[in-house]
Amino acid sequence: MKILVIGSGGREHALVDSIAKSSRVKKIFCAPGNAGTAEKAENINIREYNIKGLLKFARENEIGLTIVGPEIPLMLGIVDEFREAGFNIFGPTKNAAKLETSKIFAKQIMTKYNVPTADYVVCKDKESGIEATKNKSFPYVIKVDGLAAGKGALIINNQQDLNDAIKEIWDDEKFGDAAQEVLVEDFLEGEELSVFAITGGKNFVILHPAQDHKRAFDGDKGPNTGGMGAYAPAPLGTYEVMENIQNMVIKPMIDGMKKEGIPYTGVLYAGLMIKDDQPFVVEFNARFGDPETQVVIPLIESDVVNLFESSARSTMSSTTFKLLHKKACCVVMASGGYPESYEKGKVIKGLENDMEDTMVFHAGTFKEENKIKTSGGRVLGVTAIADSLEGCIKKAYQRVEKINFDKKQYRNDIGAKGLNK
Ligand code: AMP
Ligand code: GLY
Repeated sequence: MKILVIGSGGREHALVDSIAKSSRVKKIFCAPGNAGTAEKAENINIREYNIKGLLKFARENEIGLTIVGPEIPLMLGIVDEFREAGFNIFGPTKNAAKLETSKIFAKQIMTKYNVPTADYVVCKDKESGIEATKNKSFPYVIKVDGLAAGKGALIINNQQDLNDAIKEIWDDEKFGDAAQEVLVEDFLEGEELSVFAITGGKNFVILHPAQDHKRAFDGDKGPNTGGMGAYAPAPLGTYEVMENIQNMVIKPMIDGMKKEGIPYTGVLYAGLMIKDDQPFVVEFNARFGDPETQVVIPLIESDVVNLFESSARSTMSSTTFKLLHKKACCVVMASGGYPESYEKGKVIKGLENDMEDTMVFHAGTFKEENKIKTSGGRVLGVTAIADSLEGCIKKAYQRVEKINFDKKQYRNDIGAKGLNK
């Protein structure tokens, strides 16, 4: 079978790598891909938002299965268009993807099907926004309804934060159309966990629970980033916690979407806050997480192509699926200055220093004059697998230390939270 993977980050490199292990795969294409995906796939120069171009490519190349990495093509309805044209594609339809693309829609479904989440008020303009924050004690959260590249949740700790939020959202209109409606919601205490369920609309399987590290610096300090590292399975996701997540979040959401006539297929990413073993939904995403994918996908023992295909065709059963009983840690190597301004075009050295049970997933890289160079904020994700969490963290950092580029920046405490458990 010929497979098309859409996207260009570390997530997509990890997907390509896993797909390449399947004996069913004849050829992999990645659109647009990066220097890492080019090792096992043929990169094609079609951007992820060019749905017509991607469909034309799928037709001309007889693609048997398409896997969508990022949320933008989902929002644009790539799954609907591919299915209409008779192609198998892994991901939710445009309407189902509203669980990510509209936070208010997600809240409505959660409320209707009793899925635990923070209480909220919907505000349609500045006046109602200000009204909703009156008499509310700090901290609380203001969120724009639509997609905002991970920057749409503003934690309000004091009056200054509120003034800044009002200015950004309503005066400067920084979020554009995404902020036509806004949520004011309660602050959830607890520890965050990322859980990925793969579903064909009815049955589902749940991958190892993972923890991301969103802040730029050690000790969860500094600005929010796309994610500086991840590990799985996170000990926070005990048997009991995972049972609660399955029964209180994943199953009611998948059943609920089916009842609404909007069956959800693909991966449902639940961003959760866990407190006293109880899960609360912070947000849903309609795609895999980055960098969580770089740890949860390598921990799948089963053929991922069978898994993605059965989700795409809605023929999924929950029985034929196996996870490795191992641990994985991924350390993101970023460009100095990220997530603020940073330089590009730095030569990356040491990539050839291979180590057993480690993988280097490319994110912001490109090839020029036979050299791999940096081209983005998050440059590489270095994943290691071992029997213990301690072991995979150690191995990931050993590999990280062998890789060099000018002004490299990474956290030194990825997975430390898990060790403290
Ligand atoms: P989101 O854009 O919804 O993913 O939110 C980004 C980050 O903001 C989350 O990963 C949390 O760390 C934080 N956050 C969002 N909503 C809440 C909430 N209700 N309570 C506490 N933290 C939150
Ligand atoms: N790891 C956070 C995200 O993918 O949104």
